Amino acid sequence: MKGLPGFRDFYPEPVPTPDSWSLDLRRHIFDTWRGTAGRYGFREYDGPPIEELELYTQKSGEEIVGQLYNFVDKGDRNVSLRPEMTPTLARMAAAHTRNYKKPIKWFSIPQLFRYERQQKGRLREHFQLNADILGEENWAADAELIALLIDTLRDLKLTSDDFVIRLSSRRAWQEFFENGGGKDRDAYDFYQIVDKLEREDPAVSGERLAKLGFSYDQVNDFIESGQPTDELSAILGNIEARGLGDFIKVDYRIIRGLAYYTGPVYEAFDKRGKFRAIAGGGRYDHLVKLISGGKNDLPALGFGMGDVVLAELLKDRGLIPPLGQALDAFVQITDEALRDASLGLVQQLRQAGLATDYPLLKTKPDKQFKRALELQAKWLVTLKDTHQATVKNLETREETSIATAEVPTCSLFRKEATPPS
Ligand code: HAM
Repeated sequence: MKGLPGFRDFYPEPVPTPDSWSLDLRRHIFDTWRGTAGRYGFREYDGPPIEELELYTQKSGEEIVGQLYNFVDKGDRNVSLRPEMTPTLARMAAAHTRNYKKPIKWFSIPQLFRYERQQKGRLREHFQLNADILGEENWAADAELIALLIDTLRDLKLTSDDFVIRLSSRRAWQEFFENGGGKDRDAYDFYQIVDKLEREDPAVSGERLAKLGFSYDQVNDFIESGQPTDELSAILGNIEARGLGDFIKVDYRIIRGLAYYTGPVYEAFDKRGKFRAIAGGGRYDHLVKLISGGKNDLPALGFGMGDVVLAELLKDRGLIPPLGQALDAFVQITDEALRDASLGLVQQLRQAGLATDYPLLKTKPDKQFKRALELQAKWLVTLKDTHQATVKNLETREETSIATAEVPTCSLFRKEATPPS
């Protein structure tokens, strides 16, 4: 049996084939996401992986609705796997608006499911860092999120040669659309056409625009001549004040495909243009009100950064750090009469916080040694008798004799033990 198309198996390092997905790489990405978000004062939340279908059909827009993994559950409820986190966050925030001081700064690392046509950088499941701020109308919050997005990618060792944030404004596009005589009910279709402009045949986009009363050239002129709005200028100034100006530029080609955005929007792209968007987000000031049926109103904004394009990009740029097992100690059992004593020692080493392994069954000493090397153990520990042990540094091959009782607290380990993650 094979796994479903578009779903990944994550193997521990060393991965079986060059294109296998690595769980160690995934953890490296998640640890970085958590670390940067924590430094920016964001708190972690989570929600259910299945929600009522309606949560998505009303607010996310047709693009996402066409990709839903939805079904009727055994209680006759119309449900869907979550294709994105934002509606869940809006629902959670609306339910407890008064319990939290504003602005609320939250992040999450959900696994999301979209029945997409599989292609490079797009699968049917992916993980996303979602970072959002709720309860702040000022553009200072937009800038704070963009800075977090930049620093998250910098913490993964990407530089301004690798990526750029393309900043735009849904509001500016809305004004362009309204001033050009666009009808309210066509607005989302219009945004969708602009969103696909870079990937679609210009003739096809032109035809679609014409149906809504716009010409391709008119749209293109707006993109080319697009001056930053006051709001975008203020955001740029804020990002420049942090010394991060090289990472951002105004680009009206960005409009975002999701329906709920209302203000500044942006996407992160690799500079060589080899990959799909790394991240995307923006302001969605009306979603909490919509989802709470008008009961609660909270301005909100945020972004999502996917793990798929990110992993491809890090591989492409050679930015994956050494991953894999780092065992502290391998306890060798050369005399089966000492197995019980060795088990006692293994237990004490583990309790002392050292990653420790040993042979489960009687094994020839040379095989045990080979195994210790394969597991990249730093130390080989061998009981000579119940009182005396040797501790061998597997890198320098230096060996030290030591009383068995002192092994778990041995200062040699203290200097090098892997800190618990
Ligand atoms: P999105 O643009 O749909 O936004 O997704 C954000 C990122 O998730 C994309 O830039 C991409 O890296 C990744 N991604 C999306 N779909 C897939 C897929 N099928 N396979 C692999 N990676 C994918 C949102 O989801 C918004 N809810 C983000 C947001 C948060 N806006 C405000 N707060």
